[in-house]
Amino acid sequence: MGKDKKIFVCQDCGFSSVKWLGRCPECGGWDSLKEFSSSSKAQGNEFFVEQVLSLSEISTGYKDQRISTDMEEFDRVLGGGIVPGSMVLLGGEPGIGKSTLLLQVLSRLSKKGHKVLYASGEESANQIKLRAERLGADGGVLLLCQPEFEVISKEVKEIRPQVLAVDSIQTLYCKETNSLPGSMTQVKASAASVMQLAKGLEMAVFIIGHVTKEGSIAGPRALEHLVDTVLYFEGDRTQAFRILRTVKNRFGPTHEVGIFEMKDRGLSQVKNPSNLFMEHRNVLVAGSAIFPCIEGTRPFLVEIQALVNQSYLALPRRTTAGVDSNRLALLTAVLEKILGIELFDKDIFVNVAGGFKISEPAGDLPLISSIFSSYLDRPIANATAIFGEVGLTGEIRPVSNTEPRIKEAMRMGMKRCILPKGASINMKTGDFVTIPVAHVEQIPNLLFSS
Ligand code: TYD
Ligand code: MG
Repeated sequence: MGKDKKIFVCQDCGFSSVKWLGRCPECGGWDSLKEFSSSSKAQGNEFFVEQVLSLSEISTGYKDQRISTDMEEFDRVLGGGIVPGSMVLLGGEPGIGKSTLLLQVLSRLSKKGHKVLYASGEESANQIKLRAERLGADGGVLLLCQPEFEVISKEVKEIRPQVLAVDSIQTLYCKETNSLPGSMTQVKASAASVMQLAKGLEMAVFIIGHVTKEGSIAGPRALEHLVDTVLYFEGDRTQAFRILRTVKNRFGPTHEVGIFEMKDRGLSQVKNPSNLFMEHRNVLVAGSAIFPCIEGTRPFLVEIQALVNQSYLALPRRTTAGVDSNRLALLTAVLEKILGIELFDKDIFVNVAGGFKISEPAGDLPLISSIFSSYLDRPIANATAIFGEVGLTGEIRPVSNTEPRIKEAMRMGMKRCILPKGASINMKTGDFVTIPVAHVEQIPNLLFSS
């Protein structure tokens, strides 16, 4: 063979062909096939070996070597600190606070005496300096405004940082990969090069990746299999509250969350999220229900608000924030059918206070309760927490994590909790009253104080 073979690779989807095509048959992109020579070597990995090893012979030592950032919410999602040599992908929508978070983390690490490098192809040194000043981030962070992998690699080999942050994978490019920054080919090739560099030097790397709401953009999703850990930074840009979620972790549990609040001086950790969501609450107003939810492994209380009002439209409004609108439609139908109330001529607005999004079915019962309470214009009895999944026939099904939810409700000064019948509770609840319910038809008798 030996001959330098030419292939054409689609810049958007990675489709390859031996001849040039004007339109990619895979993704339909026009003029997206670019020429490559097959002699450009495949990305190898320095940690690949040729002999067979027994698992017991291999020592990792990862546990004791972890680098703590002293930022509890951040350490937790990584499974207890940064693992040297690991590669972490930090995904999230543009503007959610990814650069801010990493700059704060690096600054903390540099204050602890670690050598850290922030390589940015997104912003100028001035812009980063301005942000760092605003965050009170220390001068110890080394900065390299550079999107080219080859330059970053050269500096890294010289400086030998313990932690490197690359902002972002969409701007990073390898010169030897003939493809535009941000294209699928480039994203994959440059991520693989960074990976190789990191493993060789035992350096931990954080790579920022922008993800749109649909997650369709070339990049982060395609890298999930390559990296050790995938974190997603989520939240509503118009609200202060942010969740950092572990989606994948080779060095710790997934489903962990870190909770932050975006303030004018950067992100601050939220150690007690219940306080955040409950602080502006008006007690004893109709349409407000308290839901002890679970995010990752953490319970906290959120307030679900509903407003049910006479509609003057042919098609009444159903507006939701933080709750799935299909779920609302389903639960409204259950309410009409089981409790016999008329909602067809009512506008229904539902909101979860503080910009939180409810994704658990355990939020069904508090949602139904808040709508019913607003419909009757009667406040739910004071200090009542409510959770449970509601089925189509109005039955209330048990959900997971009963005890952590009750504990959090008790800790936050709730006096009683309406919960699914059959939930196992093996804890002392003292004066706290648990009210098991099996069906939505029992709700009117239990919701309000007499
Ligand atoms: P940024 O970290 O640039 O987002 P990303 O890197 O994910 O694109 O954060 C940008 C937003 O954060 C911007 O809209 C302003 C806001 N912000 C604050 O509210 N306070 C701050 O101290 C900083 C630095 C940013
Ligand atoms: Mg950024």
